[in-house]
Amino acid sequence: MIVNYIIKKDLLFEGKTKKIYATKNPFEVLIHHKDYLTALDGLRKNFLQDKGILNNEITTLIFKFLNSCGIKTHFIRKINNREQLCYKVDMIPLEFVVRNVVAGSMSKRLGIKEGVHLSNPIFEIFYKNDKLKDPLINDHHAVFLKALSYEELNSIYSIISKINYIIKKYFLNKNIILVDFKVEFGKNHKNEILLSDEISPDTCRFWDKKTMKKLDKDLFRMELNEKKEVFDIYIEILKRLNVS
Ligand code: TMP
Ligand code: ASP
Repeated sequence: MIVNYIIKKDLLFEGKTKKIYATKNPFEVLIHHKDYLTALDGLRKNFLQDKGILNNEITTLIFKFLNSCGIKTHFIRKINNREQLCYKVDMIPLEFVVRNVVAGSMSKRLGIKEGVHLSNPIFEIFYKNDKLKDPLINDHHAVFLKALSYEELNSIYSIISKINYIIKKYFLNKNIILVDFKVEFGKNHKNEILLSDEISPDTCRFWDKKTMKKLDKDLFRMELNEKKEVFDIYIEILKRLNVS
C-alpha cells in the first residue's frame, strides 16, 4: 500500500492504541493511531470513533514543537490523518512520569490530596510489564532489570527535565496546567536516546487554569464521562494548541 509515497510494509507491533508498520527504509516506521481509549492496563477499553485522528494531530503538534526546541525525538512528519513517519527505535521498557502537581497514583500512594503544587518536579519510573501491572520502580531496579545504564538514566532525567520546562510553559500559554505526564524513550540504530511514543491527553493530566476542569483521559479512567464528553475534551485541547 502506498501512503503519500511511503511504502507501508509489515505490521511490526500492535498495542492498545497504536499499530507500528515497517517501511521501505529500515530506519523508519509508520505509526498508526487507532480509535481506542484504554485505561487500567487495558481492562477498560472503549472504541471512540476518530479519537486516533485527534491523538495523531495533538501528538504531532507537541513533538514538532519539541523538535524545534532541540529535543531529540522519533518524530519525522505526519503522513495523513491517522499516521506519522518516525525513526525506528528499540523501546526502553520504562515509563517516566513527571509530576508538577499531586494527582492520580501519587495522591493515592502517599495519601496527599490532589492539587498540591510541587515546588520541584517529581520523577517516577514505572516498569512496562502488563503481567506485573507496570510497577513503580527506582533507578537501581531499572539498571538491575537491564532496561538501561546509570549513564543513560542520567541523560533521560536531564531530557525529561527540559521537556517539562518547555511544555509546561507551552501549555500554560494555552491556559492549561500540566499536572503530570508520562513519556517513553527508545534507542535508534546509532544507540541515541530519542523521545518516542506520544504525548497527548491519553498520557498527560491537563487542568484548565481558570476552572480546574480536567481536560484529559482521567474522566474515562474514573468513569466520570460519556464518550462524547471525552471526545469534546480532546477537541478542546486540539483547539487550544492551534491558537498561538
Ligand atoms: P498516575 O498518576 O496514574 O501514575 O499517572 C501519571 C501520569 O502518567 C498521568 O498523566 C497519566 C500517565 N500515564 C500513562 O500515560 N500511562 C500509564 O500507563 C499510566 C499509569 C499513567
Ligand atoms: N495503563 C493504562 C492503560 O492500560 C494507561 C492509563 O491509565 O493511562 O491504558
